[in-house]
Amino acid sequence: MKSLALKATTAARELSGVPQEIQREYAASRPVSLEVFNHARQFLPGGETRSVTYYGPFPSVIDSAAGSQIVDVDGNQYLDVLNNYTSLVHGNGFGPIAQRVGPLLSAGVAFASIHREQVGLAERICSRLSSAELVRFTNSGSEASALAVRIARHATGRRQIVIAEGGYHGSVPPFVTGEPDIVRVSYNDVQALQSAVTEKTAAVFLEPFLGAGGVIPGTADFLRAAQEAASAKGTLFVLDEVQSLRTAPGGAQGEIGLTPDLTVLGKVIGGGFPIGAVCGRAALMDSTSPFTPGRLEHAGTFNGHLAAVAAGSVSLDYLDGTAIEKLNTQAADLATSITAVARRSGVAVAVSRAGSILNVHPLTAPAQAVESGHFPAFRKTLHLCLLLEGVYSATRGMINLSTALSPDDLDEITKRYQRAFERIAQYPVLLDRTQK
Ligand SMILES: Cc1ncc(COP(=O)(O)O)c(C=O)c1O
Repeated sequence: MKSLALKATTAARELSGVPQEIQREYAASRPVSLEVFNHARQFLPGGETRSVTYYGPFPSVIDSAAGSQIVDVDGNQYLDVLNNYTSLVHGNGFGPIAQRVGPLLSAGVAFASIHREQVGLAERICSRLSSAELVRFTNSGSEASALAVRIARHATGRRQIVIAEGGYHGSVPPFVTGEPDIVRVSYNDVQALQSAVTEKTAAVFLEPFLGAGGVIPGTADFLRAAQEAASAKGTLFVLDEVQSLRTAPGGAQGEIGLTPDLTVLGKVIGGGFPIGAVCGRAALMDSTSPFTPGRLEHAGTFNGHLAAVAAGSVSLDYLDGTAIEKLNTQAADLATSITAVARRSGVAVAVSRAGSILNVHPLTAPAQAVESGHFPAFRKTLHLCLLLEGVYSATRGMINLSTALSPDDLDEITKRYQRAFERIAQYPVLLDRTQK
């Protein structure tokens, strides 16, 4: 088997539609990454263990990071505007988190017991989110979504779940494509949502903005209508704040004035460690309590892992209202400056934004930007050009800020975007609006 796998090992995969010169320049400056990737392909399917970490022609392999800086195994340096897909809101190797977690490594990080650190993070979550009365920890946002589905089905005796097209709640059933009982409605379409929610619906799951779906903000009308429609049908309203918790001190729910029955959390509440949580009304959350007869069993060897909950508490303590406001203002300025340098370079983009998370779309009309899969060659080329210029972003165009980025870093990011756009402008075919 191993020899077959070895034979299957190939070098860089050519990217269709992405200019050859750019692919060659990229590959030439990353020989060690290619070597590591080819080695990885012998032991990990496709050389990766997390879908978003693969991109062509082969991924740059990160060696280390500090604050806003990342270094790959070839010594290329990047400004980090991906921050492990929004989870590292204080950047890489945040000192106060290292100081808090470091001593735990020798004192023990996982016990078959409750721990004060778990209570500490749960208390912080409850004080931030007015809808959170009780909290239950998982190891990822995906697991938390799966638990919220179980609680909703248990509480209502129904199976159907309504979600948004382009919505993402994790890589778990029943959300993965093709699962029965999942009804998808167009995001921000109040009528479609109202007619989808019926007496058969256990829960409506929504993100306050489509995160993975292109950072498309939800309208307050749509989100409120969802809450009302759910309440009218005895359906639970589940708000997925895995990404949006960082956008306002009380989460998006505090900003918009929503009171979800359940909230799903992840990312920033783990300070860089694996975590997820479900929180919400005590009457619902108590379905998992040992004091409830016939309770929902919810086990997990690493639930409430001490490194994650301790790091998460520090992460939230430093993500106060002042920090959030600063991040959001910096993100708004960056959106403006990226749009301006694109225009100056002859490239039209639309930058969507929710708090400190942005998405650069190769289009001018924000409505079209929702179709974030469009113009793949443009997106892939921009991504590679940004890597060549030293900006670490997501292939789909998403970037987000951390408190580790200095004003100089932010200026530098704009300059690097400008250079990336100038490269792209040399390939008019990439700008062809008729291309899908
Ligand atoms: C809105 C949302 N919900 C849930 C998840 C799943 O979280 P995790 O990747 O920790 O499983 C994500 C991850 O990107 C997300 O963005």
